[in-house]
Amino acid sequence: MSKEEELKKLEEEMRSDASLPLRESNLVFGEGSIDAAVMFIGEGPGYHEDQLRRPFVGRAGQLLDKLIVGIGWKREEVYITNIIKRRPPGNRDPSPEEIEAYKPYLARQIEIINPKIVAPLGRFAMNYFLPKAKITRDQGKIFKVGKWFVVPLFHPAAALRGTGTLNALTESFRRLPLIIEKHESLAEEVISDDDENVVSQQDTLF
Ligand code: URA
Repeated sequence: MSKEEELKKLEEEMRSDASLPLRESNLVFGEGSIDAAVMFIGEGPGYHEDQLRRPFVGRAGQLLDKLIVGIGWKREEVYITNIIKRRPPGNRDPSPEEIEAYKPYLARQIEIINPKIVAPLGRFAMNYFLPKAKITRDQGKIFKVGKWFVVPLFHPAAALRGTGTLNALTESFRRLPLIIEKHESLAEEVISDDDENVVSQQDTLF
């Protein structure tokens, strides 16, 4: 089966899984290149995402687009999705049970895309992969979670609220192409303990 077919099958499975919570909202599966080097993972769809059934299409999404274009990439070249694939009512935080329910699907989605870097956006998505990490301390650093290299980034919505956060996010974006370029040698940096590129082992998630 091709990656495209596998993703389609996964989406159909999710659509027909009656045990999944939040089924009163639309399914926002994710979009982008099936061969993306970077997979951006947000918290969950908001109002606009639910309406259009596409991830990151509101104000935060516009900033994400700008940051992607700012480093010479195109939105269609990356893959964008969320931990939770349906909008919680009133944009409340997803419950641990809701996150748990969607977890096997996200794990399979990451497996299919097989990105060089997983980039959780914001504290919430970061803590899904790195329960002990702190966003202000650890954003932009490289972690190894299971077999994935994880680079947590500030959420674009937070960057819309503060210049310092925006500057830090922009700087971390600027480093992404280099991290991808050095991807093959990152494993060595786990051992080298280089201050610039802290790579910490965390508990295996998948
Ligand atoms: N915020 C998120 O975390 N995800 C989206 O898709 C949109 C906004």
